[in-house]
Amino acid sequence: MSKTVLITGGSSGLGKSIGEYLTEKGYQVYGTSRSPEKYKNTAFPIVKLDVTDPESIQNCVQELLEKTQRIDILINNAGVGITGPMEEIPMREMKNNFETNVFGPIGMINAVLPTMRSQQTGLIINMTSIAGYMGLPFRGVYSASKGALELITEAYRMELKPFKVHMTNIAPGDFATNIASGRYHAPLQQNSPYHNSYGATLALMDNHVDDGKDPKILAQVVYQIIQTKHPKIHYKVGAFLQKFSIVLKRILPDHWFERLLMSFYKL
Ligand SMILES: NC(=O)c1ccc[n+]([C@@H]2O[C@H](COP(=O)([O-])OP(=O)(O)OC[C@H]3O[C@@H](n4cnc5c(N)ncnc54)[C@H](OP(=O)(O)O)[C@@H]3O)[C@@H](O)[C@H]2O)c1
Repeated sequence: MSKTVLITGGSSGLGKSIGEYLTEKGYQVYGTSRSPEKYKNTAFPIVKLDVTDPESIQNCVQELLEKTQRIDILINNAGVGITGPMEEIPMREMKNNFETNVFGPIGMINAVLPTMRSQQTGLIINMTSIAGYMGLPFRGVYSASKGALELITEAYRMELKPFKVHMTNIAPGDFATNIASGRYHAPLQQNSPYHNSYGATLALMDNHVDDGKDPKILAQVVYQIIQTKHPKIHYKVGAFLQKFSIVLKRILPDHWFERLLMSFYKL
């Protein structure tokens, strides 16, 4: 019997690519969207889900269980970007971001765990980001949300060991998807002192995503992880320099690493 995979945010970008690849490999894949009616002729079915709404989470998992009676793999992929100076991002928007990137995945995990525990098998993959390993300028909230999900993954893993439910996370570098166009950009206040620095960093960020790697590379890594008996705690997937930045952060004195980041972002 083919394994059932639920991918949150399967309507575009990485989620879509992972879903198409796993479908090709014979998995029974379900993706999600807040507007499933927009996605009719897709490679795999798209069900309705808004991870910021607890009722929607329950309905989505219930719908899937009625169709498949089991959930073998959950890929917590849905996520949104947010940029802006920490001083000027409206607090409401910071909270919105955490609702999608942190509390949403927790809600999904908790919704599938009773099923996975009773199956005595299950794998949960949380999509974080290399940005979650360091506080990036004008992306502090995004970095924090992804860093939080990394730590939450570590905690769940230990708690779930007795139940044979595995958890891991993948931290991608830049991949060419729609994420830049879906990002929330904080509007700068009139006479904001951040006009020049934020503008320059924003342009660099968008270029990086546009020049990003092919999402299929990430889909192949997901496939490999699914085949692995004991997945690692963290996976990093992306350009060498992006992955190496995590090593540099570990080995360099903090202020050297800060200087390196600032010169990279031309600050
Ligand atoms: N692309 C990159 O370079 C990159 C790098 C590092 C990490 N990531 C992470 O990878 C994941 C996928 O991003 P992507 O690049 O593929 O972006 P994307 O193309 O913008 O896709 C985002 C997906 O998330 C879904 N989504 C957004 N808000 C949602 C909500 N409230 N409830 C349910 N689904 C929601 C969207 O579905 P609908 O709009 O249809 O609802 C969409 O399918 C994200 O977690 C992102 O942070 C991406």
